[in-house]
Amino acid sequence: MRILVTGGDGQLGRSLKEATRDSANEYIFTDVDDIDITNPEAVDLGVKCNDFQAIVNCAAFTDVERAEEQEDIATLINATAPAYLAKAAVECGIPLIHISTDYVFGGDCVSTPLTEDSPVSPIGAYGRTKLLGEQAIQASGCRHLIIRTAWLYSEFGHNFLKTMLRLTAEKPSLNVVFDQTGTPTYARDLAETIAGIIDSGQLADHSGIYHYTDEGVCSWFDFARMIADTAGHLSCDIRPCRSSEFPTRATRPSYSVLDKSKIRRDFSLAIPYWVDSLRRCLAAMAANNQ
Ligand SMILES: NC(=O)c1ccc[n+]([C@@H]2O[C@H](COP(=O)([O-])OP(=O)(O)OC[C@H]3O[C@@H](n4cnc5c(N)ncnc54)[C@H](OP(=O)(O)O)[C@@H]3O)[C@@H](O)[C@H]2O)c1
Repeated sequence: MRILVTGGDGQLGRSLKEATRDSANEYIFTDVDDIDITNPEAVDLGVKCNDFQAIVNCAAFTDVERAEEQEDIATLINATAPAYLAKAAVECGIPLIHISTDYVFGGDCVSTPLTEDSPVSPIGAYGRTKLLGEQAIQASGCRHLIIRTAWLYSEFGHNFLKTMLRLTAEKPSLNVVFDQTGTPTYARDLAETIAGIIDSGQLADHSGIYHYTDEGVCSWFDFARMIADTAGHLSCDIRPCRSSEFPTRATRPSYSVLDKSKIRRDFSLAIPYWVDSLRRCLAAMAANNQ
């Protein structure tokens, strides 16, 4: 099988490249210079001329803060472009795997894990644009897996893990919010899940929205503490603070833990605990002298 991957230079795209290194399938990784997904002609040509059997869309506008000021650009990349990919998928009769986010939630006061059927209620521009993307794919009629994930980190690109590694090495103290609860997710775990679904041939059997994060629950404060402890950055005093003490343009969900029962059941998945995955990521970084 030939599979088109868009957004191949992002952290999930690069993780997928690693995860599919030994795959019997042929994964073709593209980014904005190869196929700009906001260009309908480029999408049409890119998808149709290469005899692909599936598309994985890892491309997105992921800067949550900047999305507040550039919602039109975020909408183009996160909603209009996925509609182009979905249209091409329909015309080629191939499935589309698209990645969405826990930030489609947040407006409802909840304290138990959110299922695929929980009411969506984005409270920021990023979440709104990602929700529009989901809806465009569903409306297109293409076979799809929309995988909502959360709090992605990896050895690639910019992410919370890398920021905390730097700050806890440099600073004597650090305040990190404790009133946002979710689940850190190693992008490699999500990448292996996507590759596993495709390579095992299960993509043909399912369509719809799925939730995938690593297992467990924590706050950003807990995540930061675990990063510092695991990396041996013990001299930085990490203190819990409230989101209100850390004003940002974008409001983030206070609770966005995702229920993963459906993906676990439909694809017989064993999902790793986030702390174990964090250790694996740090070990991979150490092995690469990062
Ligand atoms: N990061 C998180 O914490 C998180 C949480 C939940 C869900 N997600 C979702 O997970 C997916 C992967 O996220 P990620 O962290 O891997 O994102 P990322 O590192 O920001 O990668 C996104 C990639 O898409 C590329 N891209 C942007 N516009 C494009 C265009 N018009 N055409 C083609 N490629 C384009 C970007 O290129 P440039 O860098 O040149 O712009 C980048 O290489 C996204 O759908 C995201 O919404 C992420």
